[in-house]
Amino acid sequence: MMPRIRTAVFPVAGLGTRFLPATKTVPKEMLPIVDKPLIQYAVDEAVEAGCDTLVFVTNRYKHAVADYFDKAYELEQKLEHAGKSEQLDLIRNVLPSHVRAVFVTQAEALGLGHAVLCAKPIVGDQPFAVVLPDDLIWNRGGAGALTQMADAAEATGASVIAVQDVPREQTGSYGIVATDSFEQRQGRITAIVEKPKPEVAPSNLAVVGRYVLSPRIFALLEATRPGAGGEIQLTDAIAQLLTQEAVNAYRFKGTRFDCGTHIGLIEATIRYALDHEKLSDSARRMMQNALDELGVEDLQ
Ligand code: UTP
Repeated sequence: MMPRIRTAVFPVAGLGTRFLPATKTVPKEMLPIVDKPLIQYAVDEAVEAGCDTLVFVTNRYKHAVADYFDKAYELEQKLEHAGKSEQLDLIRNVLPSHVRAVFVTQAEALGLGHAVLCAKPIVGDQPFAVVLPDDLIWNRGGAGALTQMADAAEATGASVIAVQDVPREQTGSYGIVATDSFEQRQGRITAIVEKPKPEVAPSNLAVVGRYVLSPRIFALLEATRPGAGGEIQLTDAIAQLLTQEAVNAYRFKGTRFDCGTHIGLIEATIRYALDHEKLSDSARRMMQNALDELGVEDLQ
């Protein structure tokens, strides 16, 4: 048995170079999908999974993330005076009252593994989640990916890493795992490799941005030397962890949008707009018109 996770770490100290120039001043995690920034979807998923301590690993340029979760006194007063209770609720509810947000600075962007290690003093000796907000996971009407994983971790006592099947030619963009046979949605990981070429990839099961990790990962991260790209890789520490403890791959239920890429962000925007209670009709009409205007020939 593993105790239920209570803490989620959001590493948001990356430079977001793929979205320049937008991310010159706006952190990638603050880019909106319809009406909420990416970070809000990630936080909602962690809170749903039972987390009440949220650790944001940021850098000195990312005030926007901390400001977003801070109380906006002036705006609240204005909305209150104007009787705009719906909007007031929206900004008051970015964090439920039982949840605390802690901000930790990663002084230098030394990699995802290093960012997770920065959260060690807050996380302590408990299992915890790592959530990458640019992987947006949508499980319409069902439990979020992190809830599914937290349930699995609690039941098996193992660390859990979210995976999804990707086309073999894309293995070079992901951490790839080899596993024992899968039972239901889980298989024990036997190997993990960062961004292997398709011809040497052990499978086409790719790691996506959700992890439930045993606290032992911190000691392993402390011993991890810079790997691919000169960065301290979380994958390298996980490769060590699975020689000491069970680590399971988990094929989550839901659709993942890679909002770290332009096309993923556009896809997520379209899918959420088409499903939005107030926008879906006009979004459908607008998309139909745009496609009609382009003409069928142009789409081929
Ligand atoms: P990415 O590989 O997506 O890097 O990081 P990035 O800097 O965010 O974006 P690009 O590739 O330059 O466009 C994966 C996750 O790890 C965090 C990022 O914020 C993102 O959530 N990260 C990465 C850190 O917090 N610190 C780092 O040093 C590196």
